Amino acid sequence: MLRDLYSRPVKDLRISVTDRCNFRCTYCMPLDEYEWIDKKEILSFEEITRLARLFIQLGVEKIRLTGGEPLVRRDIESLVAELSRLEGLKDLCLTTNGSLLAEKAGALQAAGLRRINLSLDTLDPDKFRRMTKRGDLEKVLEGLFAAQAQGLGPIKINAVVERGVNEDDILPLVEFSRENGFAIRFIEYMDVGNSNNWTSEKLVAKKEILEIVNARYPVREVGRAEGSAPSVDYQFVDGRGELGVVASVTEPFCSNCTRARLTADGKLVTCLFSSVGHDLKSLLRTGSPDETILEFITGVWTKRKDRYSADRLEALQSSTYDPRTHKKIEMITLGG
Ligand code: GTP
Ligand code: 5AD
Ligand code: SF4
Ligand code: SF4
Repeated sequence: MLRDLYSRPVKDLRISVTDRCNFRCTYCMPLDEYEWIDKKEILSFEEITRLARLFIQLGVEKIRLTGGEPLVRRDIESLVAELSRLEGLKDLCLTTNGSLLAEKAGALQAAGLRRINLSLDTLDPDKFRRMTKRGDLEKVLEGLFAAQAQGLGPIKINAVVERGVNEDDILPLVEFSRENGFAIRFIEYMDVGNSNNWTSEKLVAKKEILEIVNARYPVREVGRAEGSAPSVDYQFVDGRGELGVVASVTEPFCSNCTRARLTADGKLVTCLFSSVGHDLKSLLRTGSPDETILEFITGVWTKRKDRYSADRLEALQSSTYDPRTHKKIEMITLGG
């Protein structure tokens, strides 16, 4: 089996199908204009499906479609249909901001999508608009319930928590999720990309998030799915609902990281905080046979030694961490 330098296999592939997004979340991509990837550089569905098939040969069992916002890519359901037919794939899911989900949920379900995760940081419409710089909360909620009605579950709601912005939304989000049958996951604010002006003061740590929830709705720890998932999961003691916390900053999970990322323009990226991608598109577009592409991916993965969040924690603890000294690929290009 393919392993990297820390003996980690490749099991998950996060595919960004576009770098475009109709939101501008302040913690992800606050810039109105950006150097977007040129249309002709974007992988076709055929190219993505071919790469997905090769990654599955190397050990990938789970594929997540991301963006930018994956549903702004035209006819995304055709890609879902092609991927869902790939042998050996155990999980096919999508992370979305939900804005186009009301129109798309039926087609996605019919095409073979199993489940979605949806980003939702507040239930206050004005704050929602401020945090996304343009989003309409009502439309997102409509999309969320449309996905639920289509059976695209279990649905997880992802809420990034930013100090001074939405800590007071933690309990309302917990209540909303418990009442409506969604799992709620809180995400520590990360220093992704180069544009969100991250500082450690904006972070609300997992410990504090849990204290806030626990004081009102006691939880008990269940652990990480597969032992390696980013989220540590909890059950509410009263048996109603599920909670998760993704604590990349205060409790890094690099030692079990089995995730590869593919950008919309065909670069293989081995860490969310990477500054470089490895060009697969050129291989595809110069007629390389499968063996050549497999060898290339194998070469990259066997040399992989990323542990960005683990290193960051050490640097934060010794007060030597400055995110500006490390240029990264933007989150909107990587899809998280
Ligand atoms: P499930 O399969 O439902 O557990 O989803 P997931 O948590 O793997 O994916 P999702 O897109 O919902 O991501 C939730 C949060 O975890 C996002 O903020 C991601 O950026 C973050 N995340 C996912 N994978 C990684 C990773 O490998 N490293 C870090 N640091 N964060 C990650
Ligand atoms: N910190 C943590 N999570 C982030 N996301 C985007 N930017 C950040 C950040 N700075 C999340 C989105 C979405 C997922 C794909 O990544 O909210 O849920
Ligand atoms: Fe927000 Fe997701 Fe768009 Fe980033 S990609 S701006 S997190 S909706
Ligand atoms: Fe994996 Fe990089 Fe995230 Fe660590 S920081 S878990 S190596 S993607």
